[in-house]
Amino acid sequence: MQKIKCAVLGATGVVGQHFLRLLVDHPYFELTSICASDARAGLALGTVKEQVEGGVPKSFHQMIFDPMDVTGLAAKGVRVAFSALPAEVADKMEKEAAQKGICVFSNAGSYRMDEQVPILVPEINHAHLQLVKQQKTPGFIVTNANCTTTGLVMALLPIMPFGIRRIISASYQAISGAGYPGLSALDILGNVIPYIKNEEPKVRREMAKICGTLTGVAIQPTDWEIFAHCIRVQTTIGHLISVHIELERSVTHAEVKQALVEFKSPSVIAGLPTAPIRPIIFNEEIDRPQPRYDVLLGDPERARGMAVAIGRLEVEDRVVRLVTLSNNLVRGAAGGSVLNAELALRQGLLSA
Ligand SMILES: NC(=O)c1ccc[n+]([C@@H]2O[C@H](COP(=O)([O-])OP(=O)(O)OC[C@H]3O[C@@H](n4cnc5c(N)ncnc54)[C@H](OP(=O)(O)O)[C@@H]3O)[C@@H](O)[C@H]2O)c1
Repeated sequence: MQKIKCAVLGATGVVGQHFLRLLVDHPYFELTSICASDARAGLALGTVKEQVEGGVPKSFHQMIFDPMDVTGLAAKGVRVAFSALPAEVADKMEKEAAQKGICVFSNAGSYRMDEQVPILVPEINHAHLQLVKQQKTPGFIVTNANCTTTGLVMALLPIMPFGIRRIISASYQAISGAGYPGLSALDILGNVIPYIKNEEPKVRREMAKICGTLTGVAIQPTDWEIFAHCIRVQTTIGHLISVHIELERSVTHAEVKQALVEFKSPSVIAGLPTAPIRPIIFNEEIDRPQPRYDVLLGDPERARGMAVAIGRLEVEDRVVRLVTLSNNLVRGAAGGSVLNAELALRQGLLSA
């Protein structure tokens, strides 16, 4: 199979560097271009400060940054762009890339609520990918959810068949969620900050869209009542979320546990390189999941960090309470986008 030429936009940041790692020897995509801010153009990737464990893959050290110019990328044969740009840059660049025939898999918030753009978490809403056919550009944009929302909706997925009415969540979010360099040490060390700008409305509206139903050419959001508190804590990677779920009917602990333990990925993504074989790992231990031990779950090796850990399950009549943990940089960002692109290729939406 001929590999599809791809670019990473925002390759120096914490999400961008995870893209680089995930694209080493990828069976479908060949990394041919990297971009970041203007001052990087012409420099080698090996000059970049390493932001993530394992750093910038050695096999890419000699790559030279291209200017952030999508016309130039399209002329070089780039067909897929993995975007780790800040929203204010993504606003312009992602739309221009789609106009030049590039298919963009984005982590930025810019187009998530656009009616023709899916927020794709394929275990839940793979059918929403068809929305890209409504976009009036030669390429298209597919987005990831905000990193908190991803862990939350993954935990809800096995519980959805019981009928959800209301969700109340409190997320304890790692510092890396704010990108590099993130918060000042004086703000976060020895501290907990009970507010993250714009995060709570994002969780509410993105969750309703992701878990909504595609009817014809539009998504009907869910009518669940959703309340979210988003809190910054001084962990480095992994968003831990305490969730209270109210259902339409009574359930037993055994029923919910069985749904979580036996949950499998839909066949539509089975076998994709970045799809975890078991997307949900259920913990019996009373003190798990913990960011220190549980943010790199997922098999095979390429899917490490893609599985979501769930624990502290309590069930009482119509109420389910649990704690979920997901890797904000992998499942909630770069890994999620790569999986989305793999699915788009499998569904015939990408070509070399
Ligand atoms: N961190 C997370 O957990 C997470 C999770 C989900 C989604 N996201 C989203 O993913 C995106 C990237 O997040 P991040 O945490 O990786 O941020 P980051 O560490 O701050 O990285 C931002 C990247 O964008 C580049 N950039 C900045 N200004 C630019 C410009 N004017 N033109 C071109 N490139 C520019 C930076 O390049 P230079 O180094 O050259 O400045 C860097 O490569 C954001 O939209 C964020 O909201 C982040």
